[in-house]
Amino acid sequence: MLSGFNLHLAHGCKCWVIGSEDCGGPVGRNEVMLPVLNRAVLITGCDSGLGHDLARFLDAAGMRVFAGVLDESSPGAVELRKASSSSKLTVVQLDITNMSQIKQAYQYIQSQTGETGLWGLVNNAGVLGYVCDAELLPIQFYRKYLEVNFIGSVEVTQIFLPLIRQSKGRIISISSMAGEIPLPGFPAYGASKAALSAYSGTIRQELSRWGVKVIVIQPGAFKTNILGNREHWVRVHNEIVSGLSPDVMEAYGEEYISSLQERLVKMTSSSSSNPGQFLDALKHALLSSRPKPFYYPGAAAWALPFFYRHSPTFLSDMIFSRIFMPRDIRPAQL
Ligand SMILES: NC(=O)c1ccc[n+]([C@@H]2O[C@H](COP(=O)([O-])OP(=O)(O)OC[C@H]3O[C@@H](n4cnc5c(N)ncnc54)[C@H](OP(=O)(O)O)[C@@H]3O)[C@@H](O)[C@H]2O)c1
Repeated sequence: MLSGFNLHLAHGCKCWVIGSEDCGGPVGRNEVMLPVLNRAVLITGCDSGLGHDLARFLDAAGMRVFAGVLDESSPGAVELRKASSSSKLTVVQLDITNMSQIKQAYQYIQSQTGETGLWGLVNNAGVLGYVCDAELLPIQFYRKYLEVNFIGSVEVTQIFLPLIRQSKGRIISISSMAGEIPLPGFPAYGASKAALSAYSGTIRQELSRWGVKVIVIQPGAFKTNILGNREHWVRVHNEIVSGLSPDVMEAYGEEYISSLQERLVKMTSSSSSNPGQFLDALKHALLSSRPKPFYYPGAAAWALPFFYRHSPTFLSDMIFSRIFMPRDIRPAQL
């Protein structure tokens, strides 16, 4: 999973360089890559996927990594402890919807970082797990997505901000293309990510006078656990079906509702298995002296929002409906 990204550790120095052999040398106009040494970062949601890869990537590069995990005995958490190339990676129990865990993590990280503070917070933890029409998605999913993807990240940010202000560091939130473009099938996930992006835009401006930089990442599709698996989809399918009123059930039909799972299979198979572009973007966001406010790593991650912003609604609706709504099967009463 970690192959394919572009890391140069120049002359053994703890320093990233893009297109230059000189440690800390210029990498763009007036841009340098800051040394990694003594810079600490907290990443949420490191049990699996992009957060897990990022924790290992930054650890290998010499950063001090606090890897927040939903469950400290999960296979991903155990693997992180084993794979750590240094004593500088620490796995921290951190369910971002649990205030007492957030406070405990804060106290621990404060005691470990001392006067240096925390350089980076990566709000990565997130949930999706199912893609379906807004009318079918049970209300508890809307609540859960908002609770984890938005409220949880805001709570972690608020609690850790004093440590980030101390170092004039960075807050990076992993949002989604679905937070900018209203994509069919992603009503609750998209709304939660739109909220996260809007919040990040607000604090980007408020915190600039404190010397803190706030960055949003909108990745393309990467193969991780975010879409769930067959067992999970069957569970959600049963939950959806058991909660629908008879007239909605009749309107959509069992065949259409079941077909939603095949859509998830297709989405999973068309996602990229190489997180390199994501890791490169995070590296730049964390360590460039001139990070960008937005990054779009992954295939079409930049192109689709660009098209959405610059085309009339009828045209973008037509294109995104074609891409994101099943064409081979329609609801029963259509
Ligand atoms: N992969 C993509 O294509 C893609 C695209 C756009 C945006 N993103 C975003 O990227 C981020 C990382 O997702 P991923 O793709 O790497 O998926 P992932 O493999 O599912 O990783 C998300 C991690 O967050 C954890 N998590 C869930 N609820 C949590 C909570 N309350 N507190 C702490 N951790 C929690 C999950 O644990 P469990 O697995 O145990 O639930 C999981 O380890 C997410 O914010 C996602 O929305 C991903």
